[in-house]
Amino acid sequence: MSQSLVIAIDGPSGSGKSTTARLLAEKLQIGYLDTGAMYRAVAWEYLRTGGVVDDPDAVVRLAREADIRISTHPDAPLVKINGHDVTAAIREPQVSASVSIVATNTDVRRILTKRMRETIATHNHRIVVEGRDITTVVAPDADVRILLVADPAARVARRAAELGEQVDPGSVTDQVIRRDADDSTVSNFTDASEGVVVIDSTFQLPDAVVEQILRLVDNLPSDR
Ligand code: DC
Repeated sequence: MSQSLVIAIDGPSGSGKSTTARLLAEKLQIGYLDTGAMYRAVAWEYLRTGGVVDDPDAVVRLAREADIRISTHPDAPLVKINGHDVTAAIREPQVSASVSIVATNTDVRRILTKRMRETIATHNHRIVVEGRDITTVVAPDADVRILLVADPAARVARRAAELGEQVDPGSVTDQVIRRDADDSTVSNFTDASEGVVVIDSTFQLPDAVVEQILRLVDNLPSDR
């Protein structure tokens, strides 16, 4: 059996996590797990089923019972919840605006963390996993642990570019800065814990970030 290669990448919105993680998984020919998509899928289903902001029990029930399927192929994103293909819908502004309700619920986090660990195991521990608490909670024993950071202005500009020209700059700032502030109440993705390598992507293209991480992979001890 191949040796384990779990690469955990945390960081705030717009730090370049998804692009970096996907490129790495392609180059190394291992799996890719976007854990934010799991929180987004639960938020989408919660909105679809008429969820209201202050019903934490309903969110927890939904997370526990939902059939969530997520592709771990870096080139073929697919997210399904209870049979609905939500790959595109989970990127809509309504979902981005509500996802913190789901992500700040500690019971939901426990449930989804268990599912993330199952996915890592299904991949024989050869996978790049990105999120907010992967280096600290989901996979603190990962072979490579990265905290990807970038200046707030760069992060807002990147998210705005992703969303296209039609977006209102205020709502992008809300999506990036307010959401990170909410999310940081439940996971610490601003300070690196011991053994986590911090990479600042403010002035670096994704390929340069990927190269740095590939060097860390090359330097892993072979008897780990
Ligand atoms: O990375 P993203 O914007 O797709 O994440 C969606 C939401 O889920 C965001 O509010 C942060 C949260 N999240 C989290 O709390 N923990 C993770 N491991 C991944 C995402």
